Amino acid sequence: MAFLCRSAASLLKSSRAAPVLLSGSRLYSSGGQYEYILVEKRGEKSNVGFIQLNRPKALNALCDGLMREVIQALEVFDADADVGAVVITGSERAFAAGADIKEMQNKTFQECYTTKFLAHWCKVADARKPVIAAVNGFALGGGCELAMMCDIIYAGEKAQFGQPEILLGTIPGAGGTQRLTRAVGKSLAMEMVLTGDRINAQEAKQSGLVSKVYPVDQLVSEAIICGEKISANSKLVSAMAKEAVNAAFELSLAEGNRFEKRLFNATFATADRKEGMTAFVEKRKASFQDS
Ligand code: CAA
Repeated sequence: MAFLCRSAASLLKSSRAAPVLLSGSRLYSSGGQYEYILVEKRGEKSNVGFIQLNRPKALNALCDGLMREVIQALEVFDADADVGAVVITGSERAFAAGADIKEMQNKTFQECYTTKFLAHWCKVADARKPVIAAVNGFALGGGCELAMMCDIIYAGEKAQFGQPEILLGTIPGAGGTQRLTRAVGKSLAMEMVLTGDRINAQEAKQSGLVSKVYPVDQLVSEAIICGEKISANSKLVSAMAKEAVNAAFELSLAEGNRFEKRLFNATFATADRKEGMTAFVEKRKASFQDS
């Protein structure tokens, strides 16, 4: 069961206040509510955090307030012991059409540089819990970059991915040149970044950008099912698994293997590792306590 938490006031105001987690599945922040996103818990056990970008008139363009809300909602879910994974989605028309061009139009270099413009977006990738992007429609510019900050991308059949910043006289500024290149390889990333051309869902799957493609109307429920599967495992060990896979993007193979081995060994200090193996031997389902 999930309680929809549509909000009214800007999180820009509320972002200064600490997020409050109430019992049950209702989430909101002290001092204000969400303006640009819908937040609830989904799944049979209400153990999947759900964030829906909700700025339809601007095709979910990622204005500063929207991104601050997404980051705050992720932090609330990270702190929620019942939540094992988070799904971020947009609408059927647009996951997100990029950073807000109208907000950026008159910015100067000095302003961008001194305020570390967009720097806080990387907090999405810092979430401890696994995050699944369910992408229908446009995922362009910052929208594609937001999806790539997530751990798994599922796409609806009509999804379109692109980095069209070059057409605006700029380049991707939230990790697009780095994450896209790692995901799809140099030639396709170069082509997308240099021409602004988009790829469709099937091309995104073939190139490794997304792991699964679903009919538009099934996408979100499939992403929730994936979140439920992840939530059924040990949250503690899932966090270690996520950290280990992400290390592959930062470290050499030898360093990465050493890092993985340390985390693998660390799982032997957890009750969940003991429970998982004992349950296998006793031919029963494991009951993880996240400890
Ligand atoms: N920022 C602000 N507003 C946007 C927007 C954006 N990124 N994308 C769309 N909108 C707004 C439009 O201005 C329009 O608003 P109005 O009705 O007030 O004019 C509304 O959303 C609907 O858009 P369109 O009328 O253009 O819809 P369409 O169906 O004809 O086209 C589209 C859809 C192809 C996605 C087109 O809107 C588009 O090209 N959007 C811009 C995509 C883009 O360049 N993204 C990159 C942004 S830069 C960036 O993200 C930098 C970074 O790396 C972080």
